[in-house]
Amino acid sequence: MKKTVLVSGGAGFIGSHVTVELIEAGYDVVVADNFSNCDRTCYEGVKKITGREDLPLEVMDFCDLDAVKALFGKYHIDAVIHFAAYKAVGESVEKPLMYYKNNLVSFLNVLEVAQATGGCNVLFSSSATVYGEPDAVPVTEATPRKPATSPYGNTKTMCEDILHDAVKASGGALKGILLRYFNPIGAHPSALIGELPRGVPNNLVPFITQTAIGKRECLNIFGNDYPTPDGTCQRDFIDIVDLARAHVFAVTRMIEGKMKKDVEIFNVGTGRPLSVMELVNAFEKVNGVKVPHKFAPRRAGDITAIWADPTLANTEMGWKATRTIEETLKAAWAWECRLAGK
Ligand code: UFG
Repeated sequence: MKKTVLVSGGAGFIGSHVTVELIEAGYDVVVADNFSNCDRTCYEGVKKITGREDLPLEVMDFCDLDAVKALFGKYHIDAVIHFAAYKAVGESVEKPLMYYKNNLVSFLNVLEVAQATGGCNVLFSSSATVYGEPDAVPVTEATPRKPATSPYGNTKTMCEDILHDAVKASGGALKGILLRYFNPIGAHPSALIGELPRGVPNNLVPFITQTAIGKRECLNIFGNDYPTPDGTCQRDFIDIVDLARAHVFAVTRMIEGKMKKDVEIFNVGTGRPLSVMELVNAFEKVNGVKVPHKFAPRRAGDITAIWADPTLANTEMGWKATRTIEETLKAAWAWECRLAGK
């Protein structure tokens, strides 16, 4: 029988790509979203890509416990992937209570209701932010976590701990996987779904694509005096479709009972460091467009260099990132062009 996966925040950037991959892998998916940080574009795009005009959509807020209970009452949920959260680092510093309330309460509600079903698998979308400024790179899952530098980052660390404690006390009713994402970028090759930042983008690739298309005048490269080969920060940029596929592997592992511990942690990255400057150069080259840019002061809170050791995900889950940076940056550009009607 087909298994059903609930994707909270399923209309967002990562959630929509994960929904596509789950459907293509044969799962039934319930998308739930309150559209607080996205519109219906990606939900509609997912339906087009998958041909699933009947894709269930529940417009709801996971901070509303009664709504979460009603959702789990309506569907038999085998696994839940929890994305529904606020994600802007700077905003979280200005509005910490809003971040703690939304990100923690929504996850607590999911866990409370999932546990009450008697048997549910929970996948939490964590982040490399939990490693802080690591003492050595690449980071493995055993690399110690560092204190978070923003309320947003703190909610990731706290939700990791909450999942551990909840699973431990659940008497087998809950199992969990924490996926720690590095820097997800790109878009679906169909250009039907992708990143839709509101206002001025915080993240690098949307800023690059918006500058290349003329929506922004100039990209600021924050810092060229870091102790890295070219002075700009290094990151592990992972294609959004590769990242989405990791969720299919993780969900299948949970549902098929292949986990070796009640809570497992996997880095989701490529293992390939790329500097900000290298990324900008690669984007210009592969797409044949210019990205006006200049060096600017360092951005507060940025990590110098971080990339994943993805060996555990490769060997244990059997998942590996396969898309090249050229494919990824082409897809990011195709999506921006489509948004601009070009
Ligand atoms: N950058 C620029 N100019 C920009 C935007 C970004 O130079 O306009 C640089 C940043 O300084 C950084 C790199 O590009 O060196 C990547 O920045 P992003 O904002 O795209 O990504 P981060 O590595 O800062 O963010 C990641 C995750 C976040 C998480 C954060 C925690 O994407 O979800 O790590 O540090 F919160």
